[in-house]
Amino acid sequence: MLLLVRMEIPQEIIAIKRDGGCLSRAQIEQFVAGVVSGDFKDYQASALLMAIVLKGMTPEETAWLTDAMMRSGRIVELPEITRPKVDKHSTGGVGDKVSLILAPLAASVGLCVPMMSGRGLGHTGGTLDKLEAIPGFQVDLSDAAYRAQLASIHQAMIGQSADMVPADRKLYALRDVTATVESIPLICASILSKKLAEGIDALVLDVKCGRGAFMKTETEARALAESLVRISAGVGKPTTAVLTRMDQPLGNAVGNALEVIESIDSLKGEGPEDLMAVTFELVAEMLCLGGLCEGRAEAQQRMEAAIESGAALAAFRDLVAAQGGDPLVVDDYGLLPKSEQVFDLCYEGAEATYITRIDALLVGESARLLGAGRSHADAVIDLAVGLVFVKQAGDRVEPGDVLCQVHYNAEDLLSPALERLRKAIFYSSKAVVIADIIIDRISES
Ligand code: URA
Repeated sequence: MLLLVRMEIPQEIIAIKRDGGCLSRAQIEQFVAGVVSGDFKDYQASALLMAIVLKGMTPEETAWLTDAMMRSGRIVELPEITRPKVDKHSTGGVGDKVSLILAPLAASVGLCVPMMSGRGLGHTGGTLDKLEAIPGFQVDLSDAAYRAQLASIHQAMIGQSADMVPADRKLYALRDVTATVESIPLICASILSKKLAEGIDALVLDVKCGRGAFMKTETEARALAESLVRISAGVGKPTTAVLTRMDQPLGNAVGNALEVIESIDSLKGEGPEDLMAVTFELVAEMLCLGGLCEGRAEAQQRMEAAIESGAALAAFRDLVAAQGGDPLVVDDYGLLPKSEQVFDLCYEGAEATYITRIDALLVGESARLLGAGRSHADAVIDLAVGLVFVKQAGDRVEPGDVLCQVHYNAEDLLSPALERLRKAIFYSSKAVVIADIIIDRISES
């Protein structure tokens, strides 16, 4: 018997959401297929996206949207990999170089990390840009090379190929220019459709909240984390979200080559406390979800041993060499792009004081103005420039102390960057206690 399914015209689907109704699975699949084929025109997709921002989606609709987007292109399967395949995703922040430390560390303690990452946009940095600061490092691998690398060194860090999740590529570009990024169902479907297409067994999410994050409040971040965990776990992927603070930049360095240096220092056992706390927390969750550790204490012991023995650093060397980069950067930071000039921003007050906070959003903007980040997707970035904080929130500073080293190449970019940077640092005559960077862990109940 021939079953006829009536296709609705796009405006019928848009009207349902505009009026606060729920879309069926078939309607959502028609929308996603139409976006990829062009049957749903950009103006129609934008109208539906805005209706979703304003009226929301139920958990079922969000799960159907995620699934339809994931299936809009090639889905990777990695049956030949016998290690637990666990990836991490961060909702993004300033100075967030965790992936560069996490992938080799996780590989050195028994996991396989098939990581597909993105580029930086706006005030946040991107993993692919940081990796490209390493001379020769290739982030585009053929499918065969990617699989061979995962089988031999148990980690790869690449960009998503054009045939994967094409629906997200189109929808994200539209959201970016139609003020429709800020929607939990849309963010959730965008993130998970990409991660679930990677062929992973389990997923750990770093959901950031605060001034330098997408989600400014803990309430919003928690709602996003709960939605991400519900949907990912609902399709059979054990998932944990870690809520972390992004009020201050993570670690001391912001800027691509500078963050590579801080990542290598961290793998040598010299990482800043906040950066290592987040990295250890996420890798510990990966080890537990992957079934390699019983609990946090065992995971911590294994991670510390891998750093102390040099196994994690060796895994980073392997990663760099496997993807065409020069592994000598590990011992010679002079091989990385270096700015022509360094300006020391000093504390200009007359009395000793305390730094109460360093605003991550303003710091991210300052680094972007120097050329470290993009204001639009096609912008060319300067891999050498950025900031290295010598003082952090909570530190006491004396008149004349260096607060931050500004690495720059263009004189005309220095003063707008300094203007943001000066505004980013807040002081008080009283000592302050800095809140724990890890707020909470959210997993299936
Ligand atoms: N990151 C993504 O990949 N998608 C979003 O919508 C937001 C952040």
